[in-house]
Order: sequence, then structure tokens, then C-alpha cells
Amino acid sequence: MLTVAVLISGAGSNLRALLEAANEPDYPARIVVVGADREAEGLAHAEAFGIPWFFVPFAEYASRAAWGEALRDQLAVWQPDLIVLSGLMRLLPASVLEPWVPRIINTHPAYLPEFPGAHGVRDALAAGVSQTGASVIVVDAGVDTGPILAQERIAVLPGDDEASLHERIKPVERRLLIDVVRRIATGEIDLSTP
Ligand code: GAR
Repeated sequence: MLTVAVLISGAGSNLRALLEAANEPDYPARIVVVGADREAEGLAHAEAFGIPWFFVPFAEYASRAAWGEALRDQLAVWQPDLIVLSGLMRLLPASVLEPWVPRIINTHPAYLPEFPGAHGVRDALAAGVSQTGASVIVVDAGVDTGPILAQERIAVLPGDDEASLHERIKPVERRLLIDVVRRIATGEIDLSTP
């Protein structure tokens, strides 16, 4: 059974979908802990599913490196096989990357390498493209530059704003994420192979 830690910053709707999937008896992964960089709303989903949770408040640390060390220490308690960034809106410092890469994956609301960064949906709208997408990637030291594990196109519709487009992207992200975690758990995806 693959053990997974999920890191979030916000509402955690994708986290919730993964928690629901992992509750199914035939799903080959289990979420062992949920963490956040703030007192995120989405931690309530972990509580609802009886999963341990923690937050390491970024604002309370003198530097990103110091925050990263505290986060690394929390993750070390749980020793997950895989870390899923599901809406974590921070770059992970080397102290977290070094022990875990390539066993960290990230969901992103755009068709990478298009529109990386914190505003993937807004940037796609601003660019006036007719389609954007959703991606699940392996995290590396760059900003959304790691190998792509799964992605799918989503149309931008006339009249879309950031909220409406994001709400259409999220169900696709959830489906891709649940499938990628399943395939990692079954060995169909081997993260150690570049
Ligand atoms: C998701 O769309 C995720 O891809 C995005 O934040 C959202 C979190 O929603 N992440 C990024 O943009 C990372 N660059 P949720 O908290 O409701 O799951």
C-alpha cells in the first residue's frame, strides 16, 4: 500500500477527492497525513476523514529555509512514500526537495509547460487562448518544470472568468491526480525512471 502525504494551502477540494478515492477498499494508496503552510480551510477535510493533519505557518518563520526545515521535520514523522502538492502555493526549499525528489508530485491548473506558476488560470485567460488544461507533474527544483505524468486539454468558453474556468479545470485535475497516484501505487508509473 502506497502511503501519501498531501500538502495544501487552500480549500482542499482536490484533497477531498483524493481522500474519497483512498477510502475505497480497492484503491492502492492511503493518505497518512495532510499538511498546510497556514491554517488552511481544507484541513477540515482531513479532520472529517480522521486523517492526522498539521500546519507549519510560513508567516511565523524567519526564512523560507527555516520554514522548509520545519516542514521536512513534520513529514519525516510520517515517512510517506509519496508527497502530493494539491494546491500548495509555495515553492519547496531544498531541505524538503532533497530527501523526497522524485517522490513529490504536483497538480497544476494549466497545460504545462504553458502558464506555470501561481496564476495558471488567470494567465491563460489573459493570454486569450481558446484552450488551456490540467496537468500532474513530478516536482523538481524549478517552477512547474518537472516531468509531466498526465495532462488534458480544457476549452476556454466565451464569458469565462477565472472562477468559472477554474471550476471546470478542477474536476479534470482530480481525475488525473487520482489516476496518477493509483498508477504510482501499482508500479505502472515508476518515479525513479527519468
Ligand atoms: C488547484 O487547481 C491546484 O491545481 C492549484 O490550486 C488549486 C487548489 O484547489 N495549484 C496551483 O495553482 C499551484 N501552482 P483546492 O484547494 O480546492 O484543491
